[in-house]
Amino acid sequence: MGEATIEAYYLEDRTFPPSDEFRRNALVSDDALHKEAEADWEGFWAGQARELVTWFKDFDTVLEWDLPFAKWFIGGTLNVSYNCLDRHVEAGRGDKVAYHWEGEPGDTRTITYADLLDEVSRFANVLKSLGVQKGDRVAIYLPMIPELPVAMLACARIGAPHSVVFGGFSADALRGRIIDAEAKVLITADGGWRRGSAVPLKVSADEALEGTSTIEHVVVVRRTEEDVPFTEGRDRWYDELMRDADGDCPPEHMDAEDLLYLLYTSGTTAKPKGIMHTTGGYLTHAAFTHKYVFDLHPDTDVYWCGADIGWVTGHSYIVYGPLANGATSVIYEGSPDTPGKDRLWAIAEKYGVTILYTAPTAIRTFMKWGTEFPESHDLSKLRVLGSVGEPINPEAWVWYWQHIGGARCPVVDTWWQTETGGIMISPLPGVTTLKPGSATFPLPGIGAEVVDEQGNKIERGGGYLTLTRPWPGMLRGIYGDPERYKQTYWSRFEGRYFAGDGCKIDDDGYFWLLGRIDDVMNISGHRVSTTEVESALVDDQNVAEAAVVGAKDETTGQAIIAYVTLRGSVEPSDDRGEQLREHVAKKIGKFGRPKTIIFTDDLPKTRSGKIMRRLLKDVAEGRDLGDTTTLADPAVVDEIKKRAQQSPQED
Ligand code: PRX
Repeated sequence: MGEATIEAYYLEDRTFPPSDEFRRNALVSDDALHKEAEADWEGFWAGQARELVTWFKDFDTVLEWDLPFAKWFIGGTLNVSYNCLDRHVEAGRGDKVAYHWEGEPGDTRTITYADLLDEVSRFANVLKSLGVQKGDRVAIYLPMIPELPVAMLACARIGAPHSVVFGGFSADALRGRIIDAEAKVLITADGGWRRGSAVPLKVSADEALEGTSTIEHVVVVRRTEEDVPFTEGRDRWYDELMRDADGDCPPEHMDAEDLLYLLYTSGTTAKPKGIMHTTGGYLTHAAFTHKYVFDLHPDTDVYWCGADIGWVTGHSYIVYGPLANGATSVIYEGSPDTPGKDRLWAIAEKYGVTILYTAPTAIRTFMKWGTEFPESHDLSKLRVLGSVGEPINPEAWVWYWQHIGGARCPVVDTWWQTETGGIMISPLPGVTTLKPGSATFPLPGIGAEVVDEQGNKIERGGGYLTLTRPWPGMLRGIYGDPERYKQTYWSRFEGRYFAGDGCKIDDDGYFWLLGRIDDVMNISGHRVSTTEVESALVDDQNVAEAAVVGAKDETTGQAIIAYVTLRGSVEPSDDRGEQLREHVAKKIGKFGRPKTIIFTDDLPKTRSGKIMRRLLKDVAEGRDLGDTTTLADPAVVDEIKKRAQQSPQED
């Protein structure tokens, strides 16, 4: 072993207790919250719900738990947009900035809580005028512009569940989600800015709508001002509708368990799951975790979550959590390297960002670019750093702590999922002694345990991460498919929610997340299912069979590697590989495009015909192949190994 390895090992063993200064000003600096929650977790959540959320009518039952179906805060009524907007304005904080928005080309908007309330109310009336009623689903396909949170909050205001589809998804992916949700209205834009070019969203939206039957109107926001196809009658311009809209729209009184939104996520099958989040519990969980995990002081902090609102991180920690807590946030539209690799640090300096929440894949990219970019800006206001989306390697953690946080800011590594709605395992920055690479402990009120193959709790060592009791932000199901909900999350270990992640408990009881144990890849912090990519590949007329694995990648965590067998007389070539990559991009979105395509005449299979993914993963990661005797044709492996060495990679 060389010196670097010893150094890295040493770093993993380092511990970082909160500084005295940090603790003095922290919302919590001892284990009082954890203790209170352990004594009575239902009572604890009820207390948080009453403290952090304003109810039109108080709830009478905290929890009804009919495993695996939970109902929280039964009998309570509330409105999420009222909690995010009206109550702050009513309390005299209307002039407080909700969002400092910065477009990629450099244009900016400063949006106060009063501004946001006005725009949301008007757009809520617009939606009503287009026939959207309580309970109707609205699809949203927008870039990172202020109209995105406006649209979400307008839906929440009138009780129409939204389904936000990340702007990087393809037309096909959008179509599938619209069909599954039976959405009535689609909100999109002419385009958005990404790395200096206009991404033509409206063109994709139109393509998606071919083959759907439920969309009655498309609302189009002008962003890039490019010419777009426009279907008279169906399509309407956002700005024109808003001009005539009334600014008064009383918030609908929603039941605590009414559906707030759907968000589709990949699983081990090709069909994405519509994860259901409801109103009272979700908002409580988002607000609680946003407040305590980031130690939010709303009057002085400037908070920035760098995720896209199209993913759950953006839902909970750009829109609902921060707004419920009356925070001032930064939203940035574009790419971190446009116009220069210091763009994020220039923005952080400009707005005086104090809390930054980003993903390990981004941190590793910043590491690669070099320290001169953050060093060229004043980041001295930063005081808390967060990480989410995948395990953060200790080296990246320490780099983040040192070069972004100036060796002064606690790094909170937050483990959670689309399904959990909010953060589940994370340090509290004024309380927890940090270990680089560990998400540390379950938050107050959360029950998490690691179990073995049989479902027995493991006190020390590695196993499967499970959640042992319901929590307010938990998914209430998969849209239209309760059976799949049971099967996917609650069947592997009796009485436990199985998260799909491996996890290790160390001698001090710290949780160390080990990544997915199923056929779901984690690419740049986003879950992409192997099956979905395989289906996209096999959808190409030249492909006979495909197997996809995620291989370790320095920057993106995992990279997609595809093994492809072509039909009959079709010859493999670099062009063919490129064309297949584009085909996947079209079916799923660019982020689902394989980094490497390996053409092979056959795939390694067990005698029962199951593709041996483990082995393909080993080949992709260049590991020793070990025992291959269960193969139908062991020669295939040598062939694959040879091909793997010859195949060109995409940069
Ligand atoms: O594997 C875990 C990983 O991301 C998965 C959830 O993905 P998604 O639903 O897209 O939500 C991402 C943002 C919450 C998890 O099953 N993951 C997320 N955060 C962490 C993580 N793995 C390790 N450490 C984390 N902090």
